[in-house]
Amino acid sequence: MPQQLLSRKAACNTHGQDSSYFLGWQEYEKNPYDPKTNPTGIIQMGLAENQLSFDLIESWLESHPDATGLRRDGVLVFRELGLFQDYHGLPEFKKALADFMGESRPNTVKFDPHKLVLTAGATSANETLIFCLAEPGEAFLLPTPYYPGFDRDLKWRTGAEIVPVRCSSSNGFRITKAALEKAHRRARKLHLRVKGVLMTNPSNPLGTTMTRVELDTLIDFVVAKDIHLISDEVYSGTNFDSPGFISVMEAIQGRKNVAHRVHLVYSLSKDLGLPGFRVGAIYSNNETVVAAATKMSSFGLVSSQTQYLLSALLSDKEFRRSYIVENRRRIKERHDLLVRGLERTGISCLNSNAGLFCWVDMRHLLKSNTFDGEMELWKTMVYQVGLNISPGSSCHCDEPGWFRVCFANMSAETLELAIQRLDDFVVSCHGHKVICNSGCRMQSCMPKWILTLPSSDRMLER
Ligand SMILES: Cc1ncc(COP(=O)(O)O)c(C=O)c1O
Repeated sequence: MPQQLLSRKAACNTHGQDSSYFLGWQEYEKNPYDPKTNPTGIIQMGLAENQLSFDLIESWLESHPDATGLRRDGVLVFRELGLFQDYHGLPEFKKALADFMGESRPNTVKFDPHKLVLTAGATSANETLIFCLAEPGEAFLLPTPYYPGFDRDLKWRTGAEIVPVRCSSSNGFRITKAALEKAHRRARKLHLRVKGVLMTNPSNPLGTTMTRVELDTLIDFVVAKDIHLISDEVYSGTNFDSPGFISVMEAIQGRKNVAHRVHLVYSLSKDLGLPGFRVGAIYSNNETVVAAATKMSSFGLVSSQTQYLLSALLSDKEFRRSYIVENRRRIKERHDLLVRGLERTGISCLNSNAGLFCWVDMRHLLKSNTFDGEMELWKTMVYQVGLNISPGSSCHCDEPGWFRVCFANMSAETLELAIQRLDDFVVSCHGHKVICNSGCRMQSCMPKWILTLPSSDRMLER
């Protein structure tokens, strides 16, 4: 069909589908690993799914036939749910979701269900917020590296722009006032009006929680510039190690002139491992934003039977509490398995305490310290080593050689095989493993260019 018959939006190429992040998924689909039917296939390590605690939900479902059978006290509620179409959502579900959100943030914040807007996942929540807060051509500042899906979710249909806040490995990719100011100046130079900052906490792809200092820096910045702050907290329940997660709603407590400009995004895709159910939410203290987003949510509602089922699940206090604790324990176990396995291979990761992935430093494996070098290594990983991992460039990282590696969407055996494949690859590159007794890489075996980086940049001292 001729392109002129389509809208500009439908014909344009700004969806981001051609990013190596999504291309990796396509390559995996062509040759997916299966221990029995395709043992040499590609292992999917580019998908931040949580498959570690399905059994806990399944056993709850087995023992609660009313919830799965759409019954209340044994009586079918099919007709009620079949007709329900109020875009405010089921009150009992919003209450259960607000309680769940409070519980995964060590009860430091109480969430009011009236300030919640239900959306079809965090994808829809983020886009809806941008529709509420920005005109086409206005900009949001995003700390790098950031989740590749944001290029699609925040920009494609809204026409808004993203200006990166450049963070670097020299301070573990922490957000600083200087970096925020620089991004703001850059936006002004590009004649873009800045409407806010959007960050992920815990970070995707870093797997780190934000410090109180970073949160205060961000809050001071948005107040000084008179703009908004969106905190995407979809990984809040994955915080498996200290320091503890601090929600933006906790960070603003006791501060003036802030609450109306701070908005939180949440979903059940990561903490509960249910991206297929499409359950997300916006939480905001700004009544106008809540009202506008609720009207917009007509375009991406959560189905009534999903709300019914999950309100029963999440209202079960005992289930909620034990799930959160056990899920965190399992994520930590898996994280440690990957980090220790990579260490044995001579590969280090950024220290992390949350998320379903590690931010892995493979700079010493690049043939050149360039993004071409990173792409070459990524292709080798996908086609020769058989691992789909996400290159840092797809997350807009400024430094070539970092990769996001997911660990919670497969069995422990598959993860061990993936580590073995990496180990074999490293040995084939160097002829031997490049590690010293303490587990770190030996400088004498590194490519020359990496030795010229400042040592803090190399992040070897851990
Ligand atoms: C930071 C972040 N926000 C939003 C999303 C989208 O989540 P959902 O499946 O709830 O739309 C993801 C998914 O990976 C994510 O990592």
